[in-house]
Amino acid sequence: MLADRDRIFTNLYGLHSPGLKAAQMRGAWDGTKFLLEKGKDWIIDEMKKSGLRGRGGAGFPTGLKWSFMPKQSDGRPSYLVINGDESEPGTCKDREILRHDPHLLIEGAMIASFAMGAHAAYIYIRGEFIAEREALQRAVDEAYEARLIGKDNIHGYPFDFIVHHGAGAYICGEETALLESLEGKKGMPRLKPPFPANMGLYGCPTTVNNVESIAVAGTILRRGAAWFAGLGRPNNTGTKLFCVSGHVNTPCNVEEEMGLTFRELIDRHCGGIRGGWDNLLCVIPGGSSVPLVPAEQIIDANMDFDTLRNLKSGLGTAAVIVMDKSTDIVRAIARISYFYKHESCGQCTPCREGTGWMWRVLNRMAEGRAQKREIDMLLEVTTQVEGHTICALGDAAAWPVQGLIRHFRHEIEKRIDQYAANPHSEPVRNYGVAAE
Ligand SMILES: Cc1cc2nc3c(=O)[nH]c(=O)nc-3n(C[C@H](O)[C@H](O)[C@H](O)COP(=O)(O)O)c2cc1C
Ligand code: SF4
Repeated sequence: MLADRDRIFTNLYGLHSPGLKAAQMRGAWDGTKFLLEKGKDWIIDEMKKSGLRGRGGAGFPTGLKWSFMPKQSDGRPSYLVINGDESEPGTCKDREILRHDPHLLIEGAMIASFAMGAHAAYIYIRGEFIAEREALQRAVDEAYEARLIGKDNIHGYPFDFIVHHGAGAYICGEETALLESLEGKKGMPRLKPPFPANMGLYGCPTTVNNVESIAVAGTILRRGAAWFAGLGRPNNTGTKLFCVSGHVNTPCNVEEEMGLTFRELIDRHCGGIRGGWDNLLCVIPGGSSVPLVPAEQIIDANMDFDTLRNLKSGLGTAAVIVMDKSTDIVRAIARISYFYKHESCGQCTPCREGTGWMWRVLNRMAEGRAQKREIDMLLEVTTQVEGHTICALGDAAAWPVQGLIRHFRHEIEKRIDQYAANPHSEPVRNYGVAAE
């Protein structure tokens, strides 16, 4: 189990005060000036050496991302934008940081901004996170009051932190849609290039990072890149917040070492699978957008980016959704398809049309009202959506369906056979969603 001394989020469960004094007792804002004095290049180099990969889903190396920002300003300001939209179903980790450890985030934002030559950081918080926004704003006010941040602060680097909240749209978590929304426009993804490091917020160089990616920065630099890189596995280093939900005995959020096995995660922290290990059906290991992994493949798999990618899935946001054998897996994926259909911004035809198409077909399949040849047709449609859209929401909609067909084709076929044998039986009801 991750030793207590290696925990970054020592107030994850809110057992202590999130306030400035308590946060400082836990280590936040300790020696921040000393870290800044080591210079931009040192900070970026240490972040690279730590091996930290972005915690927002894609796992892009954080230090490398920071190094893309211009070294010399061409007259435009640079910005750090923190992604606190946290809308990927199953994910509930950033909200705990905002509620209980906000000072780690504000300190991390100052260090990251300094390293990238930005004097302002904006955080975009999911619209539904009202208490979290208030908690963060209280911490920001405390930090201004104590002159830890602000124009004239004790660290000698002018820095402002601005809290902004969304209105509850999943697509506003996509970094360029987020920037549009922050600018006061409709949250619709931008075509890339240009990438945000060249032209981001208000047309200025911008880096967008997840809340967790930024909140761990201060501790990594204080304890050293070698400490962080010594945890986990090669290319998958450090600690990670896992959000475990579904059919486990005690669902929880927990900080653990990257790369522990699924079995260790569940037995140590979640009281085991409901009904025992033999009752496990499958797991979505990284938030609803990644393909499911069947029980036999996931049980002893390492929970990290590379292992899960090799299983044709992904660590994503480490939102681990556990499903036991009571799950109607076709309906469950149909429900996820409904989510993506609902959240598509509608700019690209394959996503706008494809998400609805996939959902409608899956909804019929969940009842068995389909032809077996439609399974391959559905698979073919997922490949026409995947990789053919402006943003990755199209991929996110296609992957769960691909995972279902890859591992549970027999279940869809069984249902089609059952319906064909008895078409007048009571249809299985929609999964909490009105048919369209
Ligand atoms: C549809 C969609 C929704 C996303 N939602 C989030 C989100 O809620 N939070 C987040 O940090 N990243 C989200 N991302 C990923 C961001 O675009 C971006 O990659 C991330 O914030 C980068 O941070 P990182 O490098 O620290 O991981 C989303 C991406 C897509 C395509
Ligand atoms: S993929 Fe979907 S959500 Fe993304 S820009 Fe295109 S239509 Fe909008």
